[in-house]
Amino acid sequence: MTISARVKQQMESASWIRKMFEEGEELKRKVGAAAVFDFSLGNPIAEPPAKFHEVMAKLLQEAPSGSHRYMPNAGFPEVRAAIAAWLSERSQRPFLPERIVMACGAGGGLNITLKALLDPGDEVVIFAPYFVEYLFYVDNHGGKVRVAETTDRFDLDVNDLEKVLSPRTKAVIINSPNNPTGRLYPAEALARLGESLRRASEKGKEPIYLISDEPYRQILFDGLVAPDVFDAYSHTILVTSHSKDLSIPGERIGFVAVGPDCADAAELAGAMTFANRILGFVNAPALMQRASARLQGVTVDPGVYQRKRDLIAPALKEMGYEVAQPEGAFYVFPKSPIDDDVRFTHLLLEENILVVPGAGFGRPGHFRISFCVPDEVITSSLPGFLKALESTR
Ligand SMILES: Cc1ncc(COP(=O)(O)O)c(C=O)c1O
Repeated sequence: MTISARVKQQMESASWIRKMFEEGEELKRKVGAAAVFDFSLGNPIAEPPAKFHEVMAKLLQEAPSGSHRYMPNAGFPEVRAAIAAWLSERSQRPFLPERIVMACGAGGGLNITLKALLDPGDEVVIFAPYFVEYLFYVDNHGGKVRVAETTDRFDLDVNDLEKVLSPRTKAVIINSPNNPTGRLYPAEALARLGESLRRASEKGKEPIYLISDEPYRQILFDGLVAPDVFDAYSHTILVTSHSKDLSIPGERIGFVAVGPDCADAAELAGAMTFANRILGFVNAPALMQRASARLQGVTVDPGVYQRKRDLIAPALKEMGYEVAQPEGAFYVFPKSPIDDDVRFTHLLLEENILVVPGAGFGRPGHFRISFCVPDEVITSSLPGFLKALESTR
């Protein structure tokens, strides 16, 4: 065989999203794309805010000499300074430009963070249901994933976390607002998590790092505001991107910010910068870095996604599905009406509805609907959701 056996096994075993994508393509060939209600992918549907286009036009006009060359691997110093200033204002803490590393999206940011932290066999805790790419990102750098559960309402379960913490735990990843549940972890939950990590860190020689993956931070509903994770725990690394808040996932821009009170912050930022280079990212895209510096705080209207949530979540509840109300992002993660979530997703497929089984996120018995689709797709799919549910009764 030509390809790595490990990669082959990963490709086969772990990607339900891909499997659903392939089944969806097959269905689209059969019945025509317009007849398929595709809720399988989290590709932001909102257009970037007008300000993004304005800034891009200006940047192209200004085009100072050398603006498309290589730069320091961590990014343009003035861009990192602008982001540090923005974070310092938001968090009322002194973020240093030298501790900001510009990255190729949150995905790139997570990879440079894990590369910087992990030795072979080091453990990283993630909470189920999880963003499936975490499994691969941790494996990329020789780490081992340990899974802690969230509660029935998808809240952080600190008791369960404490069962999986070990002397090899190097980091814990959280994601709020969450993909796939839409849950926003409130300040009290983060405080309990911080307390638990402090206690566990005191037992070891080195602190456990908290990696807060926040690409959906600005996509919040009902006037909710995301609490500051740096209030909860010192040894925190923020990873984020503009894939969702500016709706530009194709442009691959984000950053990592090492917390001002984080242990070994300078060394960590240096290692992430080196990781940017040796993982072949080299640096984050130059033009997008300059855009990012001018667009901190600018965001798509989360109302667009709130409207979609309000079209789908109450309607499903009304039919009899068990649904935890999403507070942000653009996903809802209902309970499957039968235990076998994979079978239920096939019942939905018979109604031309594509969703992803909860098994793909480490929480079987549920399924994920990604509602960043046109409103008509949601409204026209509802009879199919009802029919699939009735077929299980
Ligand atoms: C939870 C989570 N983290 C990270 C990412 C990666 O985003 P990007 O690399 O586009 O910034 C995604 C993308 O969907 C995500 O859902």
